[in-house]
Amino acid sequence: MSNKYRTHVCNELNISHTGQTVTVSGWVNRRRDHGELIFIDLRDRDGLLQIVFNPQVTPEAHKIAEQVRSEYVIKVSGEISKRPEGMENPNISTGEIELIVKEAEILNASKPMPLPLSDDAEADESVRLKYRYLDLRRPRMQRNMMLRHRVVKYMRDFLDARGFLEIETPILLKSTPEGARDYLVPSRLYPGKFYALPQSPQQLKQLLMVSGYEKYFQIARCFRDEDQRADRQPEFTQLDIEMSFVEEEDILELMESLFTSMMEEIKPEIEITKPFPRLSYTDSMARYGNDKPDLRFGLELADISDLVANSEFGVFKNAIEYGGIVKGFAAPGCASYSRKQQDKLVEFVRIRGARGLVTIALEGEAKQSVDDLTLEQVRSQATKFFTIDQVKAFAKRMGAKVGDILLICADQEDIVNTSLSQLRVEMGQRLGLADPNRMVFAFIQNYPLFEWNPDRNGWDSMHHPFTAPHEDDMQFLNIGDLDKVKAKHYDFVCNGYELSSGSIRIHDSQLQLKIFQLLGYPEGEIRELFSHLLEALEYGAPPHGGIAPGIDRFLMLLAGEENIREVIAFPKTKTAMDLMTNSPNVVSEDQLTDLHIRIEE
Ligand code: AMO
Repeated sequence: MSNKYRTHVCNELNISHTGQTVTVSGWVNRRRDHGELIFIDLRDRDGLLQIVFNPQVTPEAHKIAEQVRSEYVIKVSGEISKRPEGMENPNISTGEIELIVKEAEILNASKPMPLPLSDDAEADESVRLKYRYLDLRRPRMQRNMMLRHRVVKYMRDFLDARGFLEIETPILLKSTPEGARDYLVPSRLYPGKFYALPQSPQQLKQLLMVSGYEKYFQIARCFRDEDQRADRQPEFTQLDIEMSFVEEEDILELMESLFTSMMEEIKPEIEITKPFPRLSYTDSMARYGNDKPDLRFGLELADISDLVANSEFGVFKNAIEYGGIVKGFAAPGCASYSRKQQDKLVEFVRIRGARGLVTIALEGEAKQSVDDLTLEQVRSQATKFFTIDQVKAFAKRMGAKVGDILLICADQEDIVNTSLSQLRVEMGQRLGLADPNRMVFAFIQNYPLFEWNPDRNGWDSMHHPFTAPHEDDMQFLNIGDLDKVKAKHYDFVCNGYELSSGSIRIHDSQLQLKIFQLLGYPEGEIRELFSHLLEALEYGAPPHGGIAPGIDRFLMLLAGEENIREVIAFPKTKTAMDLMTNSPNVVSEDQLTDLHIRIEE
């Protein structure tokens, strides 16, 4: 596109344009005043170009360059020239050339920046978010936004080529149970009534299957009022997918093919593991302590409850007596950890709910066999309770070598798993085992359909109430043995993050009703919340299933960021605020009156 502002964007220009007169517009990235000559690095979205103001060539333009400051918007015309010998910049694509200015115009001035725009300078995050429109000028953010665009475009094209239809679903609708609190929107026309923003388009995509669309996707915005974490935002985006006449395997194959080809196209430098590993939920919990394992490294947990069942060591004995377990893993080469370093690990698990951590350092050289270990080489608060053979047995179960430290937790199973899974990730990172250039995608399968909720004293869905039970387990459902029922539910994980959950859905109205009842929904609520779905399932609903990868989380990993805010143009803070527009904010009395709302202090 050529117009009065530009004949070229910076990146289009190269040595072949030498001698041509061009016009470019953009921001002043950097200005260097060498007295006679003024150099400006002009920046547009696609790149940088060095422009030179020489008072001998054009005194007027040089005067303008004297007034210009960082981030001014300027337009310059002039001739492309080869840079003098030795002045080339190999770091930018226009590094061999410069533009010798003939005419210059300031299109807009800029106040001094409230935050540094270079990637190396760290800026306070609250300032970054208040001035997000400036923060987004930073090269890192521009890279992230462009990556996001490419990923979403790849997803669209991939699914389009496979016959999927992109269908939008409403934002103003009704609560759908995904486990978080809803964002509610009061209705002006219906006093006391509310819309709920979708936590996901779950029911709508199922209804689209009843409508016969067979292959649906949507880049869907979801809203959840839940505690914020580094990988959570109150509003986020999913690649929402649903298909008819499919089994679990079809969905997993689709995901594997999409993510493999997308990685190869967009980030070929990142190593992925093919085929994607698959683990059962039970296996994942046993070996990694959670259902979103970081599979870039081992450090697998091992249960040693049986080996310490008759131990006199109080910590282990008590845990087992009270129905708990004893589990641990070996941190390679860490036997030399000082008391202080070990105390820090104890503190790490304490913060995560465990009572403590037993450490057993196996001092010596890795080349020595564990079989030859002596009691003198074992450093632990529990040494006197165990024979050397027992220590060897622990070490072997944990795959330890001499020189490692065994990190062992004894408590209720959920506490042990929560704290050790996090300690495992911490040690993996500390020991440099979590290779930033690898992304290990994996599927977790065979989840239980229900989980017990002690606070509610009732059963919750492990995924959501629309998930189908395994046919083989219908007998348990019928006799109320709910903890034995497995679900056709799968998760898609990567590097320690849950990217996605999905399931084959219930397409039988009676079964769906039964599940709602088992989950303890009162009859009135079932009618109020789900009658549309129960009824729809009675009109020839096909077997169907789907999945919904979180786009922000995937991008966070792909971009090597540690927080999803870095891949969202206008994110909210940890406390769900938008600092740029200052929202949420108070609204006028009139607006409240319209909505039939009175605020009580
Ligand atoms: P689920 O609730 O597991 O499943 O969500 C799917 C994926 O969405 C992402 N995600 C989030 N990302 C950022 N911030 C959040 N607050 C947040 N919450 C979830 C995660 C998560 O794995 N309807 C089902 C999917 C289905 O069954 O098809 C659903 O929403 O990456």
